[in-house]
Amino acid sequence: MKQISTIAELRSELNCLREQGKTIGLVPTMGALHAGHASLVRRSVEENDVTVVSIFLNPTQFNDKTDLAKYPRTLDADCRLLEECGATIAFAPSVDEIYPEPDTRQFSYPPTDSVMEGAFRPGHFNGVCQIVSKLFAMTEPDRAYFGEKDFQQIAVIRRMADDLGFKLQIVPCPVIREQSGLAMSSRNTLLTPEERETAAAIYQTLRTSREWVNEMTVEEVHDKVVADINAVEGLQVQYYSIVDGRSLADVGSWDESDDIVGCITVFCGSQPIRLIDHVRYKG
Ligand code: PAF
Repeated sequence: MKQISTIAELRSELNCLREQGKTIGLVPTMGALHAGHASLVRRSVEENDVTVVSIFLNPTQFNDKTDLAKYPRTLDADCRLLEECGATIAFAPSVDEIYPEPDTRQFSYPPTDSVMEGAFRPGHFNGVCQIVSKLFAMTEPDRAYFGEKDFQQIAVIRRMADDLGFKLQIVPCPVIREQSGLAMSSRNTLLTPEERETAAAIYQTLRTSREWVNEMTVEEVHDKVVADINAVEGLQVQYYSIVDGRSLADVGSWDESDDIVGCITVFCGSQPIRLIDHVRYKG
């Protein structure tokens, strides 16, 4: 595996490989890699001749700078994991390499980027679109791989890729969970062992709530999920939204769409750590 830190070297390496007719898979990450990322990389390695994994903690998508400061940084361990997974290139640029000048572009794809995470983290998806559009332009991949844990992010990136005319396939990959059901996330390393156990109640509640759909309205399921999670000491729901899986607009009844997903954000522990997850009710 090659480790590259400049855009010029990345482009020249990929131009050579492209001239040889090789297909390119891109896995964008912010580092602190775990088994969820490994599954994306392995899938890309299976489906492409070349797999580029970017490791870049993108400052423009953090509206809360203490969140950015807390974010785990583990480059050496990340590169070892990528070697094991068979990645071809680890692209780990500096902030100055990616943003020699401030990126003043504004992206807006309502409602996908204005609801849920978009409402609670103003500017977050604008930053995601800034970095992901740059990575798409630098690597010109045939396919790009994203974890479905960040369910809303995939919807926003699809809109951005269509809008800017990127000709690539966006490949959503299933959430990888710890044995307890907790969705794998780089932020989980910031939880104490006790908090990690507590956090398992989030997905356990979401999974159980699928059984309530036949007897309860959307509003009743919503309210019971929020109440049951808030009843667990150490957990506090920030929002729970039951939405159409494509438009991300709220649904009012189970008949309204054939693709219905519940998306949640919960604060866990005393720091607290912000965890997101989702469950599919229909589709
Ligand atoms: O999902 C993430 O880790 C980030 O939002 C991404 C897509 C790598 C952009 O920085």
